[in-house]
Amino acid sequence: MTQKKYDGGAQSRKAHAQYRFEDIYPARMLASIPKQGIIMDIGTGVGRDAVAMHDRAKGNLLVIGIDPDEANYRKAVATYPDKDIVLCRDWNDVAHVKRNSQIAYLVGEVQKLPEPPSKLKADFINCSAVLMFLPLDEHDVFLKGLQRLTKPYSDIFLRFRTEMLKDSMTKTDPAHLSRQCLNAGFTIDVMPRFPDPPPSNRDFKWHDYLMTAIPK
Ligand SMILES: C[S@@+](CC[C@H](N)C(=O)[O-])C[C@H]1O[C@@H](n2cnc3c(N)ncnc32)[C@H](O)[C@@H]1O
Repeated sequence: MTQKKYDGGAQSRKAHAQYRFEDIYPARMLASIPKQGIIMDIGTGVGRDAVAMHDRAKGNLLVIGIDPDEANYRKAVATYPDKDIVLCRDWNDVAHVKRNSQIAYLVGEVQKLPEPPSKLKADFINCSAVLMFLPLDEHDVFLKGLQRLTKPYSDIFLRFRTEMLKDSMTKTDPAHLSRQCLNAGFTIDVMPRFPDPPPSNRDFKWHDYLMTAIPK
């Protein structure tokens, strides 16, 4: 896949990194992030959310950012020079990343990743602003890919928007997406629409789903 496919609507890396994690997401989402265990940040980009979740860690935590664009890994390293972000090509590389002190950056597309070993399955997944960059006909397989990454009963936060999309972006029908989420093995709690926080001057309003993985 090309870089162009992913970067519609992108802000500068600096502006992106300036968002305060506590302002970006609703309190209920923040409260559902465990402080230890395995946390994944899907479509981690330059790593803003992975770094914020790593900063909140207490105890034995492994944060795994997943993104297909290896150029984003290098941007993450440049944006957060104080963090030890480790490039990973597969789950075996991830298994060698040091919990607490390092962050894993796994290069790959969720829908094509093999199932992780059970000790690397997620206790929580953040998946923010990724769906709009996937063709509609890949949503189903993407959601099933998310299911494969999770431990039973873990929470997944799914954020997308349906307005003010660039031509290259995909418009999701929330009702259809909800059915696809149920079909992929999630229960869904649809949260109130969430406005883009400062420093944004964008009028984005996000759809936020807090989902729970049901054992298959
Ligand atoms: C707009 S950025 C979102 C960055 C960040 N999550 C946020 O909320 O600001 C979308 C990211 O999704 C990534 N992405 C696209 N397709 C993906 C896939 N199939 N699996 C994982 N990440 C993907 C892109 O490379 C890009 O970094």
